[in-house]
Amino acid sequence: MPLKNTSSAALPFSGYQSLPDEVCQQRILAAKEKLGKRLVMLGHHYQRSDVFQHADFTGDSLKLSRLAANSAADYIVFCGVHFMAEVADILSRPEQIAILPDLSAGCSMADMATLARVERAWRELKAVCDPDTTFTPVTYINSAADLKAFCGEHGGIVCTSSNATKILEWSFAQREKVLFFPDQHLGRWSGHKMGIPLDEMVLWDWDQPLGGLTPEQIRKARIILWNGLCSVHMMFQPSHIRRFRQEHPDGFVISHPECSFEVCELSDFVGSTETIIKTVTEAKPGTRWLVGTELNLVNRLAEQFKGEGKVVQFMASTVCMCSTMARIDPQHLAWCLENLVAGHVVNQIKVPDEEAELARVALQRMLDAS
Ligand code: 13P
Ligand code: SF4
Repeated sequence: MPLKNTSSAALPFSGYQSLPDEVCQQRILAAKEKLGKRLVMLGHHYQRSDVFQHADFTGDSLKLSRLAANSAADYIVFCGVHFMAEVADILSRPEQIAILPDLSAGCSMADMATLARVERAWRELKAVCDPDTTFTPVTYINSAADLKAFCGEHGGIVCTSSNATKILEWSFAQREKVLFFPDQHLGRWSGHKMGIPLDEMVLWDWDQPLGGLTPEQIRKARIILWNGLCSVHMMFQPSHIRRFRQEHPDGFVISHPECSFEVCELSDFVGSTETIIKTVTEAKPGTRWLVGTELNLVNRLAEQFKGEGKVVQFMASTVCMCSTMARIDPQHLAWCLENLVAGHVVNQIKVPDEEAELARVALQRMLDAS
C-alpha cells in the first residue's frame, strides 16, 4: 500500500526549479534507490534522454499500457504525456497511483478531439443514419479518458499506432462504418492498408455543421476521419524523402503512421516507435536510414548504431520535438520522487471511477483484439 505522510506538507516545486541538472540526476538516483520496488518508472521513446535514462521500462503506447496493466508497484511514474498516465491509472489496480511529473505535459493532437465535439458529431450523424448501429467509434490512444469512455459506451474501441489495422478489422466486424479520431493520418493509412479506397474515407471538420460533409458523402463513406493531426509529424515532407533517395539510392526510409499519407506512401516501412526501433536494430550493418519521427528517438538511434556503421538520419531539416513531452525534466522528476520518499504524492493522475470503468471497456477490447 502507498505510504501517506500526514504530519508535513508536500515539498514545493519552487525548491527544485533552479536546481542544476547534475544535482537532480544524483537526487533522482538516490530517491529511486529508497523507493525500490514500490516505484516503477515508464518512459516513452520520445522522452528527452536526461529523463529517459531513469526509466525502468520503455516502449511505444501499446507496450507501455500493457506494462502499466501488469505492474505490481505502488507508484507508476509516467515519463510521457497526460493520456499515457491516464491509461496507466485506468489499467492499474485501484490502490496503485499514477503520476505525471509535469501536469502540462499534454498531447496537442489529443486536444483536437474533445468529448463535446465528438458527442456533437454523433448527434449530427443521426440526421443521416443511426450511428449506434452504423458506426464503430475508434479512438487513437492519444486521446483523453472521456473519449475512451465514449467508445466503451458506444460499442467502440481504442487503437495505437502498432495495432490500428487490426483494430479496424475488429471494428468493421461489429458495424459497417468507422468514426476514427483524433488522428486522420493514422486512420487514413490504416484504412488504406486494409484496401479501403481513399474516396471512401472522408474528413470530418468539427467546425462545420455535419462535419462539412453531405448526407450522400456520409452514406458512401467507410471511414469518417476526424480532422486531427500531430504537428511534430506534419513537419516531414515528401521532398525530404525524394532528396534522400537521390543522394542515397540504397538507403531506407521509415516513418511513423502519424506522418502524412504521401510521406507514408514514399516510405519503405511505416510503423510505431517500437517498430521503428526494431527495424533499425535488425538492419544489416552499413545500412543508411532516414527516419520520420520525433527527434529524441532518432538521435538515440543514431548514437546507438553508429558503432555498427549504420547511419540514422532525421527526416526534416528543422527541429521536430514533442515539446510537451519534453516538459518532463530532471527538476520535475526529482521533485516528484523526493515527495514520494517523504510520503507525499504530487501530480497524481486520477480518472473519475465512472469514466475509468467505461474507458477500461474500450481499452480491454483493444488488448484482447491485439
Ligand atoms: P507510439 O505508440 O508509436 O509510441 O506513438 C505515440 C505517439 O504519440 C506518437 O506521436
Ligand atoms: Fe502527441 Fe505528437 Fe507528441 Fe505524439 S508527438 S505525444 S501525437 S504531440
